[in-house]
Amino acid sequence: MTLADLEKQQIKSLNEVAVATDAAALEQVRIHYLGRNGVVPAVMKQMKDVAPADRPVFGKSVNKWSNELKQALAAKSQLFDKPKKSGSAFDYTLPGRWPTAGSKHPISRVIEESAAIFGKLGFTVADGPDIENKFNNFTALNTPAHHPSMNESDTFWLAEDQLLRTQTSPVQIRMMTEHKPPVRIITPGRTYRRDTTDATHSANFHQLEGLYVDTKPVSLADLKATLAYYAKEMMGSEAGVRFRPHFFPFTEPSVEVDFSCHVCAGKGCRVCKMSGWIEIAGAGMVDPRVFEFVGYPPEEVYGYAFGFGIERIAMIKYGIPDIRWLYENDVRFLEQLR
Ligand code: DAH
Repeated sequence: MTLADLEKQQIKSLNEVAVATDAAALEQVRIHYLGRNGVVPAVMKQMKDVAPADRPVFGKSVNKWSNELKQALAAKSQLFDKPKKSGSAFDYTLPGRWPTAGSKHPISRVIEESAAIFGKLGFTVADGPDIENKFNNFTALNTPAHHPSMNESDTFWLAEDQLLRTQTSPVQIRMMTEHKPPVRIITPGRTYRRDTTDATHSANFHQLEGLYVDTKPVSLADLKATLAYYAKEMMGSEAGVRFRPHFFPFTEPSVEVDFSCHVCAGKGCRVCKMSGWIEIAGAGMVDPRVFEFVGYPPEEVYGYAFGFGIERIAMIKYGIPDIRWLYENDVRFLEQLR
């Protein structure tokens, strides 16, 4: 018998152990190989016919085989020895199950990527509570006293002066009341509005706010350069931005910010409704009234602010057609994003 034959026998024997389905079959295997007249003792007897130089290797191989086979038999026999507990017995013969790998949620990804991008421009991440007061969420942001956004129908009021923040802008107020300029922060977080859920609305969503305030002049051009840099880093080097005049109570002048459509590169397609542009953010120069509310001297400070929906960026970037997919935790959807 050659070493190759020996190996074949070894594989065959271990295979027979593996496929044995009951204790009797296993015992047959044991007798066939390890019994007094079995294959292993017979091979041992052939040792004398092996060339003396090959004997040590051959001998070792037979011993190894014998040991492995004994171990395999012992391990397998445990399956049959134990009385099966009803229902709960662990079946060692079942094939293993691969754990499915998770993936980072698109909202977390956008937040982390945004923090990294703005971080390169010197912005740090600030945080504020979901439960806010009226001053921070509305008054100090120069919202007129009877503005409709304060209504029960738009805002979740918890008490007379307690509400779920409708925007991340109140973190601007917190930062400025607590810190002297310069301030250079972004603040991602949850926001809440009494919206009926559909493909593009959710009562709970996320925004990312930015605020830059300095005692040196800061202009709309700085704001535009900052958002243009963000657009390119986030959406690709082809991305551009444009400003359209708008109104927000806390900025003057105010703009709406569009990114060039990343799908058609501005040519016009279904995603951008043939306009070549996608509306992304609100922004503007911080209104002097806001500086007054936080105790900054309005003539001595300059600043810009911006805010956008994180879901919107995620949906555009990853081609997600329905905002609800972001909250349902359907593994089939999350696996697509890996
Ligand atoms: N808070 C605004 C909203 O929820 C977004 C926004 C607009 C934030 C302009 C800003 C800004 O900081 O300057 O619609």
